[in-house]
Amino acid sequence: MTIPVAILGATGYTGAELIRLIETHPEFEVEHLGAHSQAGKLAGEVLPGCAGSVANMTLAAADAVLPDDVELVFTALPHGAAANSVFAALEAGKKVVDLSADFRHKSNDIYKSAYGSDHPHSELFDDAVYGLCEFSRSDVSGARLVANPGCYPTSTLLPLVPLLKAELIDTSSIIVDSKSGASGAGRSAKTDLLYCELNDSVKAYGLPRHRHAWEMEEWALGFAGQKIQLRFVPHILPMSRGMLTTLHLSGSETNNWHGILHDTFADEPFVRVLPQGTLPSTAGVSGSNRCDIGIAVLGDHEAVVVSCIDNLLKGASGQAVQNANLMFGLDETAGLAIHALWP
Ligand SMILES: NC(=O)c1ccc[n+]([C@@H]2O[C@H](COP(=O)([O-])OP(=O)(O)OC[C@H]3O[C@@H](n4cnc5c(N)ncnc54)[C@H](OP(=O)(O)O)[C@@H]3O)[C@@H](O)[C@H]2O)c1
Repeated sequence: MTIPVAILGATGYTGAELIRLIETHPEFEVEHLGAHSQAGKLAGEVLPGCAGSVANMTLAAADAVLPDDVELVFTALPHGAAANSVFAALEAGKKVVDLSADFRHKSNDIYKSAYGSDHPHSELFDDAVYGLCEFSRSDVSGARLVANPGCYPTSTLLPLVPLLKAELIDTSSIIVDSKSGASGAGRSAKTDLLYCELNDSVKAYGLPRHRHAWEMEEWALGFAGQKIQLRFVPHILPMSRGMLTTLHLSGSETNNWHGILHDTFADEPFVRVLPQGTLPSTAGVSGSNRCDIGIAVLGDHEAVVVSCIDNLLKGASGQAVQNANLMFGLDETAGLAIHALWP
């Protein structure tokens, strides 16, 4: 018996990645696909990579009633729109993994600061578990609603939290410099994502304060109990997928930091700490659900920590499936490739 799944936002980049993962998952089965402007079309008409029987499924409207037998709903929708679909799915008794930012915060004030409007369903904040599995595994297992972390926060918090817990970092001078492939901005048409605007170019954006900065600070406190202030500068690169985050850190006992990271993640299937002095690349994780972490010690009080993820996998749909596996008591790695696409 398989577990029937709905994917709302199936025509977007993370939705398409979810279809790809669920189609080869040993326990989950695609039962329902939802869309917005593309509703009514066949999935195969809208998604070039979609083949087999799922390509012949008709895309339902995002607010269509979910089939009774669906047990799990992935909401891969823009923030704001996701909250109402999450509410409806929970009311219908489904479990939900929300890939948007709508349930990543625990207060309406912070949500409003980051996203500019009041939250339509703040009464659900207490139900939502922030699903950075490596730090919230047991809470995710019992959850009916998991807020899947953002891609930038995932690549930042995985290396940062263990070092914060060890109380070896200066919490007032953390610099987070991130680079993302263009799929991080989603599939909808935007002038600044046109080929000629992106190609042969790198640019910073989202300043003075990108909305993921609030998420990083909230969950650094949540997981490590440390109140931090960080400077976060995201950049967009002319590549389809991949994310590299460089943390510029100062503190003490920097020669122990590699050992702390290594010990923290030694048994984790999806986090790999590279040998001291070896730094990761986006190509090393592309197509996998893995986060690779490297560290370069610059002196007794300074180090640079670099992490790489595939923004559509560990940064979105892969982590969403990892969370869903935990919610249904399955092997956490089910349906998730460990190896990257290489070359
Ligand atoms: N891309 C990433 O790397 C990434 C990483 C982490 C988290 N996320 C988050 O995941 C969510 C989906 O991201 P994405 O990159 O997949 O976005 P996307 O490519 O822009 O796709 C958005 C999807 O939502 C649907 N949609 C658009 N407006 C809607 C509305 N008003 N009501 C209901 N459905 C609507 C679209 O349907 P139609 O095509 O039919 O219009 C499409 O299926 C976002 O919240 C994003 O922040 C994305």
